[in-house]
Amino acid sequence: MICITSIQGLRQHISQKRRKSHSIGFVPTMGALHEGHLSLIKDAKSQNDICVASIFVNPLQFNNIEDFNKYPIQNEKDIDLLEKAGCDILFMPTVTEFYPSQPKLKVDIGLLDRILEGEHRPGHFSGVVIVVSKLFNVVMPDKAYFGQKDIQQVAVIKQLVAELNFPIEIIACPIIREANGLAMSSRNMRLSAAGNELASNLYKCLRLVETELKTNVEFEKAKNNALNFLNQFEGIQVEYLEIAQADTLEAIADLKPKSKIAVCIAAYVEGVRLIDNLVIIL
Ligand code: PAJ
Repeated sequence: MICITSIQGLRQHISQKRRKSHSIGFVPTMGALHEGHLSLIKDAKSQNDICVASIFVNPLQFNNIEDFNKYPIQNEKDIDLLEKAGCDILFMPTVTEFYPSQPKLKVDIGLLDRILEGEHRPGHFSGVVIVVSKLFNVVMPDKAYFGQKDIQQVAVIKQLVAELNFPIEIIACPIIREANGLAMSSRNMRLSAAGNELASNLYKCLRLVETELKTNVEFEKAKNNALNFLNQFEGIQVEYLEIAQADTLEAIADLKPKSKIAVCIAAYVEGVRLIDNLVIIL
């Protein structure tokens, strides 16, 4: 695997690959890699000639400076994991390389900016769209891989690519979970063993909603039962729990048969903000 830190260096390297007509699969990350990230790398590697990954903790997408400062960094371990997973090129720019000056551009994504993550993390998706657009312009991949764990991010990126005509196919990959059901996340490293166990109730709650909706428990009641389930744990502070249309994430008031919905949760455990979701086909 080749590690490149400059935009110029990456462009040169990528154009050599392009001249040989190699197809390029791209996995953008913020590092502190786990099996969730590595599953994206494996998909990118198996579906393309070349797999490119990036590690860049993007300051623009953190609406909370404390969250940014606490974001785990483990570059050497990450390089080793990427190499073993079959990644060919790693792009790891510094903040000054990637943002020589603070971007003045702000992006309003529309509805997705005002619901769920957008509502609770103002400016987050603008920062995601700017960094991903810049990365796409440098890497110019054929396919880019994103995790369903961040279901709203996938919707935002698909909107970006459609509205700005990026010639890139967006591939959404399934959520990888720990043995207890907790969705893998770089932020899980900040949980104690007890906190990790407690946080696994988020997934239990999602499965509870699924069971209830599939056995015709009324929509509002299922939502209330889910909230009551989580509220019994003193150490879990729910930020939101919503049932939305799976592709657009628009709120739904009632359920239609055969609809594809997503139950989305954000909650704090030991001061760590966690998100999870479950897509259900009724
Ligand atoms: P990061 O949180 O590092 O995640 C990188 C990619 O890994 C994202 O597409 C995310 O959805 C995916 N991922 C994380 N946990 C996963 C899991 N348990 N199962 C499957 N996929 C998982 O998302 C970002 O970084 C940033 O917003 C980024 C897109 C890199 C832009 O800065």
